[in-house]
Amino acid sequence: MQMDVQELYTLIDQEADGQGSLIAALAAIQERWRYLPPEALVLASARFGVPLSQTYSVATFYNAFSLKPKGKHCLNVCMGTACHVRGSPRVLERLETKLGIQAGETSRDRQFTLETVNCLGACALGPIVVSDDEYSGQMTPQKVDVLLKRIQREEGR
Ligand code: FES
Repeated sequence: MQMDVQELYTLIDQEADGQGSLIAALAAIQERWRYLPPEALVLASARFGVPLSQTYSVATFYNAFSLKPKGKHCLNVCMGTACHVRGSPRVLERLETKLGIQAGETSRDRQFTLETVNCLGACALGPIVVSDDEYSGQMTPQKVDVLLKRIQREEGR
């Protein structure tokens, strides 16, 4: 997604003028562009009068922030022990094959980001895949195909 610098300025100004915090500004940037580009960190640091190193610390501390571009759809596969023994490696493998990317990567068309997590706290439902905040339990490679088809169908709307 192309970044409009003027829009970036406006967004940061809105947070700063409205007594928002640096974190709120970063969250707004993350939501708009799905990642925190370097220029956004520089501008936010300057506007909030915070050292750039501190802004980087905040940006790397919270999992919600990413310094790399993310896809429109984020797929998280739980690789915690319970999900692992119930087959999450096969589920992950299917996603990697279907999407043509490895865990931790984003597809070239920026449609999908594939990631792994360690435990989502719902072990009884494992293996779990979270797609755009929606939990799918007892996943299998076949259910992966259905999930991806559904996402693609909804995209076609
Ligand atoms: S191990 Fe997957 S939810 Fe706990």
